[in-house]
Amino acid sequence: MYRLVYPGSFDPPTLGHLDIMARALRLCDELRVAVLTSGSKQARFSLEQRLDMLHLAIQDLDQASRVVVEGFSGLLVDYVQACGGQAVVRGVRNVSDFSYEENMAEINRQLCAPHETILLPAKPELAFMSSSLIKEMDRLDQDYRAWLPASSYAYTKEAFRQAHVV
Ligand code: COA
Repeated sequence: MYRLVYPGSFDPPTLGHLDIMARALRLCDELRVAVLTSGSKQARFSLEQRLDMLHLAIQDLDQASRVVVEGFSGLLVDYVQACGGQAVVRGVRNVSDFSYEENMAEINRQLCAPHETILLPAKPELAFMSSSLIKEMDRLDQDYRAWLPASSYAYTKEAFRQAHVV
């Protein structure tokens, strides 16, 4: 079984993430979407909410049964090894992403990762997208329906509403 790992914070998952998943699925038998539980960035949504959003979002994929969504903490290299992943896949939107991913791939190599990193260029029409942008649009009460997976939109919108109420 050829298994790819797609790690990230997915806070929240966007159409850009879903596009990378759809394309990565063509390269593997199983895609593990690995949600970082405790990174340096403070997540807006809980791990449970982000897992729910991803479980809903992947329903928009043709081959959702080949996707496994789960949380991970600690080093990515350890997670990839533990789950038997052959490679990590990441989306790159621009040159800044590329520099960042180049460094991350090298750090992982220095950590003796046996896996390779596959970089997929974001579609130009999704290259401006980020999770922060969705949060900013929500804060300013703008319509971001077009940038979220159709199946996770309602849940995400409600999760934002609850976060405002707290
Ligand atoms: N479409 C839309 N948005 C995209 C995107 C795409 N194709 N590709 C990247 N992004 C955005 C995300 O929305 C996110 O936006 P935000 O900054 O506004 O939240 C941003 O790019 C990057 O987030 P993400 O892809 O989730 O990555 P990350 O930088 O939060 O996390 C990990 C990357 C999880 C791979 C990395 O932190 C990691 O491996 N951590 C584990 C610890 C470790 O092993 N570290 C290395 C050795 S020290």
